[in-house]
Amino acid sequence: MTGRNLFPAAILICIFLFIGTAFVSLDFKEKLPALETAGSTHSVLSEPCKSECKSSGGESLPRGIVSRTSDLEMQSLGGSPRSLKKKGKTTQKSLLAIAVGVKQKKVVNQIVQKFSSNNFVIMLFHYDGIVDGWKDMPWSGSALHVSAINQTKWWFAKRFLHPDIVSEYKYIFLWDEDLGVDHFHPGRYLSIIEKEGLEISQPALDTSKSQVHHRITARWRKGNVHRRIYNYHGGGQSCDENSINPPCTGWVEMMAPVFSRAAWHCVWYMIQNDLIHAWGLDIQLGYCAQGDRSKNVGVVDSEYLVHKALPTLGSYDDEKTTGETSNNLTEIKTEKSKAEVRAGSHASSDRSAVRYRSYRELEIFRRRWNQAVEEDKCWIDPYSKPKKKANNN
Ligand SMILES: *[C@@H]1O[C@H](CO)[C@@H](O)[C@H](O)[C@H]1NC(C)=O
Ligand SMILES: *[C@@H]1O[C@H](CO)[C@@H](O)[C@H](O)[C@H]1NC(C)=O
Repeated sequence: MTGRNLFPAAILICIFLFIGTAFVSLDFKEKLPALETAGSTHSVLSEPCKSECKSSGGESLPRGIVSRTSDLEMQSLGGSPRSLKKKGKTTQKSLLAIAVGVKQKKVVNQIVQKFSSNNFVIMLFHYDGIVDGWKDMPWSGSALHVSAINQTKWWFAKRFLHPDIVSEYKYIFLWDEDLGVDHFHPGRYLSIIEKEGLEISQPALDTSKSQVHHRITARWRKGNVHRRIYNYHGGGQSCDENSINPPCTGWVEMMAPVFSRAAWHCVWYMIQNDLIHAWGLDIQLGYCAQGDRSKNVGVVDSEYLVHKALPTLGSYDDEKTTGETSNNLTEIKTEKSKAEVRAGSHASSDRSAVRYRSYRELEIFRRRWNQAVEEDKCWIDPYSKPKKKANNN
């Protein structure tokens, strides 16, 4: 695929996507059981809570012709069409999607080089609109390029990684661009998360070379994987061996998450169209862990990354951020109004505006979540907080 063809390709994906969305929004109730597996709620659901049989829009067609899902495979213009069905299940691909700007070409190249030999589909989300700047990369022609200026990784993911489009892929790597991969091998990583049953994971961070915002992401020197932190007090958090809540356990950071197909299927629904920084999502990811979040969510220590904290889209990695996981509303509000003041002043106002929006989004997401919980009488929280536990026994 040459540079000139990229935009039409992106448009084509859009069209697929919108068709896909039409199917899915109607289909939503059918898909809820994936969420329900987080707890054993099936038996307790009363009659009105059971999913209704909704139409998908394809009923007027003979069933065998209905093609419900799609993929990101490129096809050749001539010859016989290559059917994915015929290929069998031996080669299960995964997907690497990275939000990129051409300024980080060198480090992105290093990441993609690692992945290209390992049965991955590569998808770049160009937030600076510069697609042609990547043409000289040998892998550029076989990667998918989607371009939309100043949009975040979550904005792209919500729009271009619809579960029905990416259902072919076993794992979805949804990464930032500023990651050092010298000590990371995708093949080995995949075999570890498969063996450990991690539905949501991330590679650990090399603490000597990375900015580590959250203790749980720091690399342990022994073993392949860790799933919790012990003896930690700080940042309004206190974690010990009895902790059952994120970010003490069942938690990964949003910079380099890896989702199983089923987990992504759930996470996609949780991403809100308008909350493009996705703050607050991390804390709730465990609801998509396909079971116990303290077992199915983890950090891989033996394959690890360096978080370079390079300037990326609207980034402020040089400032300390706590908002992503702080449960302390007072703190969030304080940070937000500080950001608001900075955004109003002239100095570095772009960044401050982004920061302000991130905090706003966190508030809005929490409110929406709580309201949804309130309104959905059929939903049972498998991780209901100790406070509420009284009604649970
Ligand atoms: C994208 O964001 C940058 C930084 O905030 C800004 O300078 C630029 O004008 C934006 N571009 C568009 C097309 O909105
Ligand atoms: C929240 O943060 C504020 C300011 O740091 C602190 O005074 C307060 O005790 C915290 N509240 C909780 C519940 O941790």
